[in-house]
Amino acid sequence: MKFKLLTAAFAALAITGSVRAAESPEVEARIDELISQMTLAEKVGQLNQLSGYGYNPDMVGQIRAGMVGSLLNEVDPEVVNALQREAVENTRLHIPLIFARDVIHGFKTMFPIPIGQSATWDPAIVEQGARIAADEASSAGIRWTFSPMVDIARDARWGRLAEGYGEDPCLTAAMGAAAVRGYQGDDLSRPNTMAACVKHFAGYGASEGGRDYNTTWIPEPLLRDVYLPPFKASADAGAASFMCSFNDINGVPSSGNTELLRGILRGEWGWDGLMVSDWNSIGEMVNHGFAADKRAAAALGASAGVDMDMEAHCYAAHLADLVEKGEVSVATIDELVRNVLRMKFRLGLFDNPYVDAASMRRFYAAESLEAARRAAEESAVLLVNNGILPLATTGKIFVTGPMADAAHDQSGTWSFDMEKSHTVTPLAALRDMYGADNIIYLPGLAYSRDRDTSKFDEAVAAARGADVILYFAGEEAVLSGEAHCRADISLPGAQTAYLRALKAAGKPIVTTVIAGRPLTLPEESGLSDALLFSFHPGTMGGPALANVISGRVAPGGKLPMSFPRMVGQVPMYYSVKNTGRPTYSMTLIDDIPLEAGQTSTGCTTYWLDAGLAPLYPFGYGLSYTTFEYSEPALASSEIAADGTLTVSCTVTNTGDRAGSDVAQLYVRDLVASLARPVKELKGFEKVTLAPGESRRLTFNIPASDLGFHNLKGEKVIEPGEFHLWVDNSSDCKKQPVKFSII
Ligand code: NOJ
Repeated sequence: MKFKLLTAAFAALAITGSVRAAESPEVEARIDELISQMTLAEKVGQLNQLSGYGYNPDMVGQIRAGMVGSLLNEVDPEVVNALQREAVENTRLHIPLIFARDVIHGFKTMFPIPIGQSATWDPAIVEQGARIAADEASSAGIRWTFSPMVDIARDARWGRLAEGYGEDPCLTAAMGAAAVRGYQGDDLSRPNTMAACVKHFAGYGASEGGRDYNTTWIPEPLLRDVYLPPFKASADAGAASFMCSFNDINGVPSSGNTELLRGILRGEWGWDGLMVSDWNSIGEMVNHGFAADKRAAAALGASAGVDMDMEAHCYAAHLADLVEKGEVSVATIDELVRNVLRMKFRLGLFDNPYVDAASMRRFYAAESLEAARRAAEESAVLLVNNGILPLATTGKIFVTGPMADAAHDQSGTWSFDMEKSHTVTPLAALRDMYGADNIIYLPGLAYSRDRDTSKFDEAVAAARGADVILYFAGEEAVLSGEAHCRADISLPGAQTAYLRALKAAGKPIVTTVIAGRPLTLPEESGLSDALLFSFHPGTMGGPALANVISGRVAPGGKLPMSFPRMVGQVPMYYSVKNTGRPTYSMTLIDDIPLEAGQTSTGCTTYWLDAGLAPLYPFGYGLSYTTFEYSEPALASSEIAADGTLTVSCTVTNTGDRAGSDVAQLYVRDLVASLARPVKELKGFEKVTLAPGESRRLTFNIPASDLGFHNLKGEKVIEPGEFHLWVDNSSDCKKQPVKFSII
């Protein structure tokens, strides 16, 4: 037999019934006791989540009647406590509510958007950001955040990629697990924690055409090797809750997907947390054409194992009737209620239901702002540098562009609760750093979509009076995030035209792009003497970018997604298959002779007008210094299928200033029973080195991480030869080191 089966086939797993309680026997006994006392209506009430209606007679009535299990979008601690008091003191069974909110990259102190946090390649930064967010939000009474989003995104048109960690399962898994640790801490019952909610389970990022909410087709191996691992890592990190996704996979909406929610998550992974629907996603099974009406949708959701209905009102309206008519069993309802109550116990809400406003953490504390600044510095990715950076000037600096002073927009999507008066823009930070007298500022364009070119002449004239132009371009916050997809991912408005105009001033141009997604920037790369990319960097984005530009800190960010040169290349990711016609040479469109024969370009896989490669590959990013990697050394070039691959490598800072780099370990399985990608990231480590300093790094990769799932969904580790690289970008062209699984 060529390969070894590692896990039983999915089909062989029981996909009905829940995995009972990993909680303490005392807590499970208390849950049993409560369930035994609950009426059917009270049980259904626990499964109902409503959105912020404030403290009013209707809401108070529903809470007192035991019709509400959780509320989202209440952020005033006094209202939170007042509503909680109704649940705890004025209901028959005194069961507390859970207050939830989308705290995605900060509550008050905004860190970079998650895709920017991923560009740090430093899970410790993600963990710290989540910890600060939990501290701030929990002090307003919020104990449940709908974060992290660990959807793999390989299509830069999809607006929601801003909320995730990019294209790669290994990087996303590390970041998702770090966020869970940060939100939940060591002990979820402490009042300054929040339950994480890992979303969107599953496959949401595979939406066809990069259009939000769109359908997905995901074959079993792709689902299990690419889309699910970050969810598994987050579950293993102890995530208290998951959210199912809006999309259907292969025709089955996630909110009614028994195989996914019960079979894989609870059955195979043994997870015992709370599964919440996405907003109205149970009801939307009617729109999908999967449920005839909301009653049928409620039955499908409950049977599939969605514990809580977010704002669809389907459970509240129909579950009791479904149980009474025998269409949903009492055992199913009890199981959903058990999962909800377990999370309330885990959060310590039965013992400590109220927020203590008096001991509230200071929002925007100095150490939080400092951490947010560091995160924004680490997430900046230097794409081009002709030597202009770090900026050495004592003369005048022309600061321009629609993102130079855009306090609202630099925070990015999901910035509900921040006050932009606390946000420091690049313009403010540069004035502070270089002295207001040395900064000449004209925006040129008022906002990123602005097409009005009437201010260009005045701006170019002003630029002529400066030593250097700092152009801050990009996307407003509203151009990415949920339901904000773009079919054209170039700089919006007249921003490229403005860069062309600025070029006429004859001064060096440093372009900083502040955006929510990878953009196509081939012309901008050529027109700029340096190009710095910052995914919406949050509250302290201004000082962070000023520090990077001035050289107070060296950039060390690496791309968490491939940057296409043209939108027609998407979906674009490094981890592609070789195909039967890999490209060894290309003839591009302008070089094809007239009336050339149909086969004259060589019949390999590339685009005539875009070539093959991205403009900037996954894992890429420059620093102000340079790094070299020694040839990786293997403890053994043969490993058993249950063994571990041990790889060591020395990284040296070969430049004359300190800097950070990310060692990235990639492998390729040369021959397998399914074609494997040309490279897959299996480990990474960020290092900061002084000039001339070296560090020996060791990676231990379990052989099981080198396996894959076959068409039946079975995990296999096949014997055979692999190639391995350790370098600082996915487009490493060095000779690989070889090893084998025996
Ligand atoms: C819909 C979004 O898809 C989800 O991510 C979010 O948590 C909910 N709305 C609640 O706001």
